[in-house]
Order: sequence, then C-alpha cells, then structure tokens
Amino acid sequence: MLVDSFGRQITYVRLAVTDRCNLRCFYCMPAEGIDYVPKNDLLSFEEMERMVSILTTLGVTKVRITGGEPFVRRDLMQFLRKLRTNSALEELHITTNGVLTGDYIQQLKDIDISSINLSLDTLDKARFKNITRRDEFDTVMATYGKILDQHIPLKVNMVVMKGKNEEDIIPMAKLSLEDNVSVRYIEEMPFNGTGTAHNVIDYKEIISVLEGEFGQLQRIEDPLNSTAYHYKAPYSKGNLGVIAAYSRTFCGSCNRIRITSEGTMKNCLYDSGGLNLRDLMRSGYSDKELSESLKKAIMGKHKDGWAAEANRQSQSFESMSSIGG
Ligand code: GTP
Ligand code: 5AD
Ligand code: SF4
Repeated sequence: MLVDSFGRQITYVRLAVTDRCNLRCFYCMPAEGIDYVPKNDLLSFEEMERMVSILTTLGVTKVRITGGEPFVRRDLMQFLRKLRTNSALEELHITTNGVLTGDYIQQLKDIDISSINLSLDTLDKARFKNITRRDEFDTVMATYGKILDQHIPLKVNMVVMKGKNEEDIIPMAKLSLEDNVSVRYIEEMPFNGTGTAHNVIDYKEIISVLEGEFGQLQRIEDPLNSTAYHYKAPYSKGNLGVIAAYSRTFCGSCNRIRITSEGTMKNCLYDSGGLNLRDLMRSGYSDKELSESLKKAIMGKHKDGWAAEANRQSQSFESMSSIGG
C-alpha cells in the first residue's frame, strides 16, 4: 500500500496524458511561447498502462485522466479502453475542456467512464473567447448537452476570477437547477507560468455571492476525500461545489498523487516534483523496483499544500497544463 508519513493512503492518481492544449486559458498558459515537452519525453501509453497497473497493485482504485487537453493526444480512446481492462481500477474519470470531446461521448459511455469534469468558466460567448483566447463556446456547450443526454455523471469546473467572470457565478449556479450537474467554483491558483494568481476570489466570498441570490444554501455531504464543499440551491436537480484550491483547506484528507505527461510523480500540486518514473522505466527498473521507489517517494509527501510550496526546489511555477491540475 502507498501510505505517507501522516498515515494518508494514496488511492487516487491524476495522470496527465499530454501537456498540449487546444485552448489558451490565460489563468493557465501564456498566449504564445510555450515550451512543449518533446514527443519522446512524453510517457508512452504502454508506459502509462504499466504505471497504472503497478499503482493498482499498491491500492490505487481511481484514475483521473488530465492534460493539457487529453483529447489532443492521438488514440486516447484506445488507451482508455485498455485501462478499463484493469479490474482493480474501480473508477476512471476524465477532465476535459470539451472542444474535441463531443465526438467521443458515446464511446466514453460505452467504456462506462465514471464521470466527466468539464472546464467551463463562463456562459457568455464573448467572455469565453476572452478567457480561452479561442472561439469554441458553442462547441463546448454542445458537448455539455451530449454528456447530459448520455446520463454520464457531469461536473462543470469554473475558475472564478475577480473582474473576469464574477457575473457568471449565478448563471452558472442556475444550470444546477434544471440539469443534473455539479457546478464547481474553483479558486484561481498561481499555475499560469507567472507564479502569481492575479484575480483570486476566495471560497468564502464565492459562497456569499451564491447566498446573496439563493438565501442560505443547504450544505450537503461531501464524498470521501473530496476537494469540494458541496451545497444545494433550493429546488435544484444538481448541486454546487466550492473548491478552495488556493486556500488549501482540504489537504488533511489528501489521497492523491499526480503523474505529469513526462512521467514526473508529484506528491502535491504545489510541490516542484520529484521522482521521474519515465527515466526509471527506461533504465530497466522491474515492477518491484518501481513499487519500492514509489513507496519511498510517498514518504516525502508534505502535510499540506502550504508546506509543499514552502519546500519547493524551484521558485518558478509551471503552467497548469504541464501538471494536469
Ligand atoms: P473529483 O475526482 O471529481 O473530486 O475531481 P477533482 O476535483 O479531483 O478534479 P478536477 O480535475 O476536476 O479538478 C478540479 C480543480 O481542483 C482543479 O482546479 C484542480 O487543479 C483542483 N485540484 C485537484 N486536486 C487538487 C489538489 O490536490 N490540491 C489543490 N489545491 N487543488 C486541487
Ligand atoms: N487555477 C485554478 N484552476 C485551474 N485550472 C487550470 N488552471 C488553473 C488555475 N491557475 C483548472 C481547469 C481544469 C482543472 C483541471 O484545473 O479549469 O478544470
Ligand atoms: Fe487548456 Fe485546461 Fe489549461 Fe485551459 S485550463 S489552457 S483548457 S489545460
């Protein structure tokens, strides 16, 4: 089992299958001049499958596929189908921006994807273009509709930013009145290449905006190890979630690690990364040796995101697209 020095068991792995993206959200990436990982330095699907298989032997039951944008990587569906043959993997989720995803909803349904988290920061076409620097709002909304039509569990991720999309907080919440969707509000984090989050609105402020509209929200039970605090607006089909990603209030129950697209294992979103699993695999490590290396690396997991940040080896903060969120 993978247990850290604070007794937390790791059961959830976030796997970034690419660092490339077809959008350019300003809170995540610079507009131009991005250094992509050279193709040969990316983990191959075979290497990823091997890592997942080792990790499930060590007690991991949940994998979330992230990016960049996962569907930018060719043959992603084939890889997901392969992962589905691992019977120890109870849950397979994906976080996507929804631009290419629409064509794959039926196939995702067919592999019984556990849920789709759709990144969508506004319901206004012009603001969407402003935030993402691309004109894909209608495509993403069509994907939203298709996911609902297929009854795949759906969460919408909205990064809430002062002066950028505050006016979307309420319209977004209203999606949860009619649709079976979890609308999640996320505090902005400093992973945009500059090292500073410029427009943070904290989770308490987000809740007070929501309560200004709906009155006191009903607090509902959170799933185990959830990053979101969940609420319900009156008479709603779906629910609301608030993720204190910058305030980092949920680290005590952290059950996750990350593997970046180049194979670096990260114990925390805020650490600067450690063990490179790709190099170990390519230098001929056996499954047993990889397991031992993972168990040892987990012991270096910090108590929370604040301690991880304080102990960073590198002072520059990456783009979220290379960490996978
Ligand atoms: P569920 O599996 O549905 O709970 O999703 P998730 O919240 O783990 O994943 P998702 O990819 O939808 O991420 C939503 C937001 O939470 C993103 O902005 C992530 O960067 C942020 N997030 C996810 N994991 C962590 C974490 O360990 N620490 C912090 N601070 N933020 C996180
Ligand atoms: N701060 C907060 N969330 C971010 N995401 C990307 N960059 C940031 C950031 N700087 C979110 C995306 C996606 C999730 C994986 O991370 O919107 O939904
Ligand atoms: Fe792409 Fe997601 Fe980053 Fe936006 S947040 S640029 S969709 S990886």
